[in-house]
Amino acid sequence: MSELKRFKDSVALADALAERVCHALVSGINKRGKAILAVSGGSTPKVFFKALGTRSINWEKVVVTLVDERWVEADDERSNARLVRENLLTNKASKADFFPLYRAGNIDQAISHLEKDLARLPLPFDAVILGMGVDGHTASFFPGGDNLDAAVDRNGKNLVSTMRAGGAGEPRVTFTLPVLVESGFLALHIEGADKLDVLKKASGDGDANAMPVRHILRAAEKLEVYWAP
Ligand code: 6PG
Repeated sequence: MSELKRFKDSVALADALAERVCHALVSGINKRGKAILAVSGGSTPKVFFKALGTRSINWEKVVVTLVDERWVEADDERSNARLVRENLLTNKASKADFFPLYRAGNIDQAISHLEKDLARLPLPFDAVILGMGVDGHTASFFPGGDNLDAAVDRNGKNLVSTMRAGGAGEPRVTFTLPVLVESGFLALHIEGADKLDVLKKASGDGDANAMPVRHILRAAEKLEVYWAP
């Protein structure tokens, strides 16, 4: 079930989403002493990241990781880790414990090491912020993705998957559907009229793999969609 929240602009959306994420993180810290947040890359989240990074919460008790990552070096301009370091992990949020996904070397060899490293994360996620492309992908669930079926398997046991697809650019690593939808707070952050049209189309019937955000829309118990023009 999803709820659409409309905002007048990016700044108003960013403030509201930052507030809601902080509520989820503080709740997680109060319950189990730590909290974990997963964010998406791309161009949309920058204003939100800046707003969240200024919030006064106990960032030393927060783990920040990525929903997915392009398999590029950490200083590459395409790196989601670089985007998060430069836009979110500044100001007060610089005290957070950052857990990037990229590991040097071949992605197919690194994924098993990454799976082992994930054992240190205080899962389930307290907050997950998804984005969406105009092709209907979210995370790295791309149409035609080589590991799409495994990554969106609701009964899948792997926390992460590699993904290669025509629309993905570099090889990707992505958290899988079950671990994303288990999050205490799950949001889809999209902006612009085009993406609202894509969401409306994705919310209808049709093959989920054709617009993989449908897997999230159909599996999530509660998804909050944050949209601004
Ligand atoms: C990525 C993201 C991806 C992103 C969408 C939207 O690594 O690209 O995780 O899922 O959220 O592609 O990207 P834009 O915000 O740039 O439109």
